[in-house]
Amino acid sequence: MTTPILVSVAWPYANAEIHVGNLVGANLPADIFARYQRLVGNRVLMVSGSDAHGTPISVRAETEGKPVLEVYERFHQKFIELHQKLGISYDLFTSTHTENHFHVSQQIFLNCLKNDGLYLETQKQLFSKVENRFLPDRFVEGTCYICGYDNARGDQCDKCGNLLDATLLINPRSKHSGDTHLEIRETQHFFIDLGKLSEPLSAFLDTHKEHWRPNVLNVSKGQIAEGLRGRPITRDLEWGIPVPLEGYAGKCLYVWFEAVIGYLSASVEYSQLQGTPQAWHDWWYNPSARSYYFIGKDNIPFHAIIWPAELLASRTLFADDPGEQLNLPYDVPANEFMNLEGQKISGSRNWAVWGLDVTERYGPDAVRYYLTQAMPVGKDSDWSWQEFVARNNDELVANWGNLVNRLVGFANKHFEGKVPDAGTLTESDTALLSTLESGFNSVGELLNAVKLRPALQETLRLATEVNRYLDQTAPWTAIKTDRAAAARAVYVALRAIDSLKVLFAPFIPHSSEQVHQFLGYDGTLFGTQELITVPDNLGSHNALTYNASGATGRWQASQLAAGQALRTPKPLFRKLEPSIAGEELAKLGHTPS
Ligand code: MF3
Ligand code: ZN
Repeated sequence: MTTPILVSVAWPYANAEIHVGNLVGANLPADIFARYQRLVGNRVLMVSGSDAHGTPISVRAETEGKPVLEVYERFHQKFIELHQKLGISYDLFTSTHTENHFHVSQQIFLNCLKNDGLYLETQKQLFSKVENRFLPDRFVEGTCYICGYDNARGDQCDKCGNLLDATLLINPRSKHSGDTHLEIRETQHFFIDLGKLSEPLSAFLDTHKEHWRPNVLNVSKGQIAEGLRGRPITRDLEWGIPVPLEGYAGKCLYVWFEAVIGYLSASVEYSQLQGTPQAWHDWWYNPSARSYYFIGKDNIPFHAIIWPAELLASRTLFADDPGEQLNLPYDVPANEFMNLEGQKISGSRNWAVWGLDVTERYGPDAVRYYLTQAMPVGKDSDWSWQEFVARNNDELVANWGNLVNRLVGFANKHFEGKVPDAGTLTESDTALLSTLESGFNSVGELLNAVKLRPALQETLRLATEVNRYLDQTAPWTAIKTDRAAAARAVYVALRAIDSLKVLFAPFIPHSSEQVHQFLGYDGTLFGTQELITVPDNLGSHNALTYNASGATGRWQASQLAAGQALRTPKPLFRKLEPSIAGEELAKLGHTPS
């Protein structure tokens, strides 16, 4: 029986490029998980897109003196390019600036309103007379009233991490004009009634307490224990999704309220693009579906509290949907942060390794491999260039790349380019093959539990077993004295790497596709990523989709048969000069304060 698996990935703000910290937190773990689930045969839907609205993008546009739309489109394009090059295999990577997303978000808002999940309240907001507008969220900066940091943003302090009330900032100033003579004015906003939802939210968290990561449970249970209060979900802004009611001109849905709805709207858009407009019900109403939300730790409250609250308050999307309520998250495997050489990553100070740049220069699988090994699960981790080079050379190249090249090259040379006949297998031959076969259980269980680094380490251990087997059977010397023994060892080892290629595939899919080719198969393990343009009344948008047709990969041990014609192997990975570590460090240019 196959299970519908929704793989939801945090939507990046389209105001900056994606760096390795973002990748390791959300995109990469999601992709590893999704690829595994596809190999198993489950019905995967992996969605995300550009988070196009809110003050982060407006601030950037105003700083650059460019239209917001232009800024958003530039970064949206960069994201698509990165996902293609790194192989982040979204079924749909779209955007929140689409007609469909506007419609779905407004629908959720209206449902929440109808079900008494929202209320109206007058709020105090900073207003700039110079700019003649309210200054919500990141439009204002000032000194944090909690920790004293003097560059705190109106919505959150970067230093202490607390969510802030902008009207309490000390010496607030407009980010855009620098205006310091801000007034506090009253304005009316819609609030989501979290207090009312506290009990169902608490019950929801309880159903997952056995399997959620402790960091996610602690943060979300902590917030409930402190007592949930209503939160404003509209803003006085021009750029965003209008409140769909008469009399609220100039008010938009708060970016966080609508961005999380993207998981649902993207599922709807995907179904429309497939020509099966109801297909999304399988992931959103089917009670046996499981949804996973891959995010960084700063996003935990929005995914473990706010988004479930929206789903609980809305109940269904459209009135004529099936009786069931919309599915709540099954898991929120949030990661901690990755630092860079011991310092917090900072895009604005250019203390960062940018995803697109590093992928283009070192290749997707080298980056994916290292990031998986350095995944910040349970605690922060660190990108170290020295470790990047060492792990590339000592593990990826030495343990896996060399094994494949040496073995397939040898088979090509000595057995007419074919998988040799094994004759009768010895005990140690069958032992190796059954070790590999059991790897599909051990690695699979870890992947299914989103324990990705342990799963990769288990796969490496299996590769080490194959290397050891080859050291013991040494077909390279046996070929001179006992051709049958050499043939048997080569056959067994080829089958072993045929299995390893599948076990490695979720982590380093590009090289697994190559091994698949070297071993003489036609077709591919995975589908292909395609760039499409979707017509839209807001202006057409580009999107990335995954075309699964032609994908033949299965999560099962090798069936490789004697006689299969091999292809000439090429090196899977590039060995890196140790000097690269120093060069990259020097390129970072300076030590951030
Ligand atoms: N754009 C937000 C960020 O980068 C994340 C949004 S996740 C979403 O932190 F689901 F809300 F979109
Ligand atoms: Zn602070």
